[in-house]
Amino acid sequence: MHDVLPPESARRRALVQAFADEAARAGYGEVVPPLLEELGVFLRVGESTDVVTKEMYDFVDKDGSRIALRPEITAGVVRAFVQHHPTLPWKVWYSGTNFRHERAQKGRYRMFDQVGVEVLGVDDPDLDVEVIALAAGFFERIGLRQVELLVNTLGDHDDRARYTEAVKAYFESRRGELSEAAQATLDRNPLRVLDAKRPSDVAVVQDAPRIAEHLSDASAEHFARVVAGLDAVGVAHTPAPLLVRGLDYYRRTTFEFAATALDAAQNAVGGGGRYDGLAEDLGGPPTDGIGFALGVDRILLACDAEGVFAAPEPTLDVYVVDTVDGAAARDLTHELRAAGHSADRRFGGGSMKSQMKSAGRSGARVAVIVGEDEAAAGEVTVRPLQDRGDQRRVARGELLGTLAPMLADGS
Ligand code: HAM
Repeated sequence: MHDVLPPESARRRALVQAFADEAARAGYGEVVPPLLEELGVFLRVGESTDVVTKEMYDFVDKDGSRIALRPEITAGVVRAFVQHHPTLPWKVWYSGTNFRHERAQKGRYRMFDQVGVEVLGVDDPDLDVEVIALAAGFFERIGLRQVELLVNTLGDHDDRARYTEAVKAYFESRRGELSEAAQATLDRNPLRVLDAKRPSDVAVVQDAPRIAEHLSDASAEHFARVVAGLDAVGVAHTPAPLLVRGLDYYRRTTFEFAATALDAAQNAVGGGGRYDGLAEDLGGPPTDGIGFALGVDRILLACDAEGVFAAPEPTLDVYVVDTVDGAAARDLTHELRAAGHSADRRFGGGSMKSQMKSAGRSGARVAVIVGEDEAAAGEVTVRPLQDRGDQRRVARGELLGTLAPMLADGS
């Protein structure tokens, strides 16, 4: 877990805001589910996945119920959907913190933030296109260029079950060639072996059966329409027949975004897919669902690697310089903020020169200066710092009126 300090915190906030804008533009409302849920909510998302079996921060609450800090947000959103039965389709976005007890390293943290969307109640493959295009559009908006979109389908419930059997039989036939870790995965969750990273395992994975041979006509058609739709709207994508995701609820379309400027082991900057059975698993009516989550921490690392999306420059309307006793700075900053301007000052005084230096660093557009002369005359000096124009001395009572036209554009 790590602390986020200024100015990085401003960059993070700007990133979430960019995502919020992109989602709002596509008609998504914000949902804010709790950070904690009953453990059972998360057990539904993957009792045979590492995220749920090994990495969850769970505990017994004061009333004896078993609770967990969320390792992801989809389960809570679908739980909320089941609980509140909103009108369909339900299109929501979110941002928030998750917890996974992972082996921490660069790009892999125990506390990390995601932004994402979920849509419930639509089976149409064109929605898959909308959802994927939203994520791709967001990456474009923030200036990330080296992001590869990998797409696959896992088939519907029955296809997936058939495919799992085929994959299991294949890996059993070559069990001796697999690493011990991959063999353990095979016993728990055969599809996850397809995600093995060790070169010796990868060699075996390469010849594994592909889902395409196990798809029903309906699933194949759904996926074909998704692929055609991505082409139609100009979202570049790469077929990834071995892509399996780390959570159990996925059916049909699945996808992942890889930032190629990052280390391959931690380069997934987001992923998602359909989870058509999840609402039912959580006690609701059968409801189609699809969504994705993007990792904010990793996206920022990818932005660093590409040199894009820098922290926003500090901006301020007015910096008040007071070389008398600070009383004018106290009163003027208060007055300016109350009038809707942003204003700051130095505490502890200091020479005119050093205070003007602080004013410059603050990004202020205007300095309001009160020295002995001004104080005695009941006046202030107004000096533009960024725009052209001469400094002026005005009566204190005229300060707001003088500033208004100077700060009118863009403040
Ligand atoms: P996920 O693939 O587990 O999917 O996580 C999505 C993204 O969160 C990853 O691609 C990665 O960028 C980031 N992430 C995951 N774990 C960590 C970590 N330990 N440290 C830093 N970043 C991390 C989900 O969470 C699904 N809920 C996505 C989804 C939404 N599927 C359907 N709807």
